[in-house]
Amino acid sequence: MQTTDSNRWLEERAEHIDTVLDDLLLQPEGLLSDLQSAIRWASLGAGKRIRAALVYASAQACAPVFDSAMNQALDRCAAAVELIHAYSLIHDDLPCMDDDDMRRGKPATHIQFGEAVALLAGDAMQPLAYEWLAQMPISPALIVQAVQTLSQATGVQGMAGGQAIDLASDSTDLDEATLAWMHRLKTGALLNASVMLGAIVCGASSVKRQALKEYSQALGLAYQVMDDVLDVVGDSATLGKTAGKDMEMGKTTYVSLLGVERARAYAVELHEQALAAILPLGDAARNLRTLSAIVVQRNY
Ligand code: IPE
Ligand code: IPE
Ligand code: MG
Ligand code: MG
Ligand code: MG
Repeated sequence: MQTTDSNRWLEERAEHIDTVLDDLLLQPEGLLSDLQSAIRWASLGAGKRIRAALVYASAQACAPVFDSAMNQALDRCAAAVELIHAYSLIHDDLPCMDDDDMRRGKPATHIQFGEAVALLAGDAMQPLAYEWLAQMPISPALIVQAVQTLSQATGVQGMAGGQAIDLASDSTDLDEATLAWMHRLKTGALLNASVMLGAIVCGASSVKRQALKEYSQALGLAYQVMDDVLDVVGDSATLGKTAGKDMEMGKTTYVSLLGVERARAYAVELHEQALAAILPLGDAARNLRTLSAIVVQRNY
């Protein structure tokens, strides 16, 4: 991604969320156990932080100003979605899943700490994310909505369900509708939850939530379409993960079905759908527009 005015905001948010995560993961005293070190290894210092940025951008689209309780709650939502995402990457890289050695430009967590610690780190990160949500200084009713939103996005009807379809499809060709469904579950659901969490903290109206839902559904699919494209056109050094993995594993992707150019064009079409959905939110949604553009223009 090149440094332009439009993504400076994302860089600033990425630095901010790294500090928040670092604080939340800090152990007050004593040596870090391997498990704690593995969690920090997987969570800190890298990653585009798109999910965290979506939480903040969505909140900005819903409320003109935030008090300090809302700011704290947004930080916890942003940290929670990044922690869940980081756990999903640990597990995604395990030999029993995609068997990848490199993640975010360094050895994958199971390479650095061993498979058992990597598995347990992922296990421990999930409840921790919900603990952070439970501690938000907002009304209990909103906390329940937030917990429900994140848990639905990560379970059988979301990320875990999508990953299961992905693994089962290694030896089977999927048609485009099934591929879209899988991508919406494995990747789209958490991006959707990130957007909805920002709206929940702000107590956004159902009209705004509906616009944001349509935006995030289009953006969520575009995100994985571009991930499929980058797996083919990107190089490992820029991606920070092994390029060419999907073809090596025989996966059905948007590139295997449509080819690179049509897959890219489809991502741009989804970006336009995302923009149309948030048109009624006006200038307050500017960073959501920026993020959607970054998703389809990114090169890592
Ligand atoms: C990679 O996600 C896995 C997918 C769900 C597509 P990202 O491309 O957002 O990974 P980071 O967080 O920037 O490393
Ligand atoms: C990963 O999809 C989706 C989740 C981690 C939920 P991929 O397997 O395509 O992600 P990368 O390409 O390894 O980052
Ligand atoms: Mg995978
Ligand atoms: Mg993978
Ligand atoms: Mg991929």
